[in-house]
Amino acid sequence: MQDVVIVGAGVAGLCAALAAAPRPVLLLSRGRDGVESASALAQGGIAAAVGEGDDPQAHAADTFAAGAHHNEVAAVMSLVQAAPAAVEWLAALGVPFDRDGRGWRLGREGGHGRARIVHAGGDGSGLAIVRVLARAVKAASHVRWLEDWELRGLGVRDGRVVAVRARDAGGHLQEFRAAAVLLATGGIGALFGATTNPPGADGAGLALALAAGAAARDLEFLQFHPTALAVPEARPRPLLTEALRGAGAVLRDDEGRPLMAGQHPLGDLAPRDIVARRLFRHLREGGRCWLDATALAERLAAEFPTVAGICARRGLDPARQWLPVAPAMHYHMGGVAVDADGRTTLPGLFAAGEVACSGVHGANRLASNSLLEAVVAGRRAGAAMRAAPARVAAAADSVELGVGATSSDLTRLRRWMDAALGPERDAAGLRRALTCIAADVGLAGSWQGRLAGRLLEAALARPVSLGAHFRCDGISSPEAPACPASRASSR
Ligand code: SIN
Repeated sequence: MQDVVIVGAGVAGLCAALAAAPRPVLLLSRGRDGVESASALAQGGIAAAVGEGDDPQAHAADTFAAGAHHNEVAAVMSLVQAAPAAVEWLAALGVPFDRDGRGWRLGREGGHGRARIVHAGGDGSGLAIVRVLARAVKAASHVRWLEDWELRGLGVRDGRVVAVRARDAGGHLQEFRAAAVLLATGGIGALFGATTNPPGADGAGLALALAAGAAARDLEFLQFHPTALAVPEARPRPLLTEALRGAGAVLRDDEGRPLMAGQHPLGDLAPRDIVARRLFRHLREGGRCWLDATALAERLAAEFPTVAGICARRGLDPARQWLPVAPAMHYHMGGVAVDADGRTTLPGLFAAGEVACSGVHGANRLASNSLLEAVVAGRRAGAAMRAAPARVAAAADSVELGVGATSSDLTRLRRWMDAALGPERDAAGLRRALTCIAADVGLAGSWQGRLAGRLLEAALARPVSLGAHFRCDGISSPEAPACPASRASSR
């Protein structure tokens, strides 16, 4: 029986590796133990209707509202119904979810009508989950895990993906025969200047799938997290979890006025796209944005140890001072189009987690639905891959990722991406970025430049605002505040 090959060791890849048993799995990852994945950086936890009086319908309603009703209905219903069992499965595996006297301790985040998020180790949820999954995968006899390998290409025969080409830390390229391939390579934040994503979230999996001819979906929907710590030099920018606002922290301007007052019925807990746009505009107008978590002084060490550590390392004391914040690219709702089992449009190729798009997140992901989706979709894709053919023939052809941009090329690309594909877009800015990339010797032939082009074209092709895709020059959806005329005409 030939291996199925999984690329990526974040939550989706690890869950898929476990679910594929007893099928032999080869797991390839860039870093070690899954800790370099975006999953490991996640501070928010897992959204699930497990609280008293909550139900999956209410979770679904919040998911649709946050997603501007662009969500795939069946995918949402299936995700929210699977959520309580996903939490139980992780807990049974050993994830130490936080508890209080009544059961799971539930937190609240933006867009949720009630407290619905389970955390592990307070705001260290992602790392706690990755550690438990990685331990289980390392102990699983059906999985062979090769660490420090980088995806470079796919082998193809008669239109079917039958191999993965990867490079080890020493630069040695190898082809691995695969009865099926799962891309669980994460998002694209590393293509932006300000991002909460780790360096490995560079879009290589997405770029390769598109180069191989897999269909893409919703590429223009990018989520900006409103409260990254405003430390411009940091890559990634440290996240100040939305759970802080769920617990009572408030966004303020320089004078202490609440920035979200009058903006949305949920105030500081409005869906993320709305809060991010509000802060983006305030900063553009020359203001500063602050997160006031001083009311949580007594709770920071126990419930928000990651945030407390981030602040301490920078000499900030959130118990006494407001924290400077700014939006940063955080999550890609779009990606490789997949069905409910993670099948792409290319035979033999699956995708799960942030690289994939089933339409579940619509135009703006609801907070803490990402780790949830990574668990549910990863397990489904792993289970579906069990049915891959026992043997496939050797590749007759290959699709290569191709030449990568240098680090100075990437610095220019990030500047153009930040300017054109931020929380607000317009046709002139999108076209300018496309022209600049096409004219740039270092970027035009690079896979990052080609991927950026696909994202910019997708944003150009949707002239109306929807969720996280806000077109200053387009027709605004009813919930989106109007774009200031001064900016629309200044471009
Ligand atoms: C956060 O903790 O604010 C981020 C959670 C998420 O991305 O859903």
